[in-house]
Amino acid sequence: MNNKMYIFETEDSFQVPTYKKLPLALLKGEGSYVWDQDGNRYLDFYGGHCVAILGHCPPPVVKAIQKQAETMLFYSNLVYSDIRAEATEVLTSLAPEGLKKAFFCNSGTEANETALKLARKVTGKSGVVATIGGFHGRTLGSLAVTWGKKYHEGYEAVLPKTHFIPFGEADALQNLLSENPDIAAFILEPIQSIAGVTQAEVEYYRKVRFLCEKYGVILIFDEVQTGVGRTGTFSISEAYGMQPDMITLAKSLGSGIPVGAVLVSETISKTIQIEDQGTTFGGGMVAMAAVSATLKHIRDEKLMLNAPKIFRHLQSELTDYPVRLRGRGCLIGLEMDIPVGPMVAALRQNGVLTGGSAHPNVMRLMPPLNTQPADIAVFAQAFHTAYASVSAPVSSLS
Ligand SMILES: Cc1ncc(COP(=O)(O)O)c(C=O)c1O
Repeated sequence: MNNKMYIFETEDSFQVPTYKKLPLALLKGEGSYVWDQDGNRYLDFYGGHCVAILGHCPPPVVKAIQKQAETMLFYSNLVYSDIRAEATEVLTSLAPEGLKKAFFCNSGTEANETALKLARKVTGKSGVVATIGGFHGRTLGSLAVTWGKKYHEGYEAVLPKTHFIPFGEADALQNLLSENPDIAAFILEPIQSIAGVTQAEVEYYRKVRFLCEKYGVILIFDEVQTGVGRTGTFSISEAYGMQPDMITLAKSLGSGIPVGAVLVSETISKTIQIEDQGTTFGGGMVAMAAVSATLKHIRDEKLMLNAPKIFRHLQSELTDYPVRLRGRGCLIGLEMDIPVGPMVAALRQNGVLTGGSAHPNVMRLMPPLNTQPADIAVFAQAFHTAYASVSAPVSSLS
């Protein structure tokens, strides 16, 4: 059996079949590119699902992890740690004013679970509001606030009750909160990525802020995809000119090392006590080295400034096609007049990885913040070829 068949068959034989995988084994990554088992190179505008914010194997992060691994792999929050102190300092220095307290965990779903749990504790209330189309994770608490029958089927009985309201409609929130005094939290994915990179008007986020304040509801921004500077500011709330009560982060935070975080205000932090939340691996030393190096590099190289430039550059390369760009910075939806599935496949055949979404006509691009003009040229060339192949008229002879 050749190496490729060995990899595919072994994973398929011995893993619980929860994932629909591409017929691709990736063995190496460097910068914006990854290589498969046959040595084929791909421009990666998918980023391992919105993770590789500095591209693959960014040298400062790799070096920091190596150094930490040789010094101390892990110890829990039972003790203090130099690298955890450093990561906390860098993270909270980048966090929006007023959200300067951090709790570290291991993933996006765990960050959201933590935020929801703490919101209940802080308010003494139990209800939760979420939006139609929002995605927040797959463990039971986060699953309860994730929209979609396909995710909930079979688990309804154990999921905490959630009120789902339309995304982008502040009146729906107003009506719900005025009739339900027991709401602890409103959890919002500010750009609904998986739904199709859907954004609301800036006014919506400000009204949501006002309403949560008025009704004593904790506003949680799930910035697992939008955060860490991907959209041009560390938190997208800074671009909206408002501030949530909690922000959840993961994905890009450790450049690929599993890590999540919840940012909260001083006031909220004061109401939280020992044992209110905990996790063995949260704040582990190797993860903290990855966080610190990732954030320092983004900050020191001023990479957040690249996000709008990359968006505009991609937009300018696609003006000849019937494509509309959605999203912000390096979280981009390409809306097309045709179903994008064949286009995503054709791009892959032409050496570019992109993602689909729940919207059949929207493909997602999540390029790194250090994407170079040459990478965009590679994308544009592949897009040209892929578009020609999917839109070619079917020959009358075939
Ligand atoms: C917006 C958002 N929140 C939460 C999650 C869950 O994160 P994780 O897969 O790290 O648990 C995801 C994952 O795709 C996400 O996109």
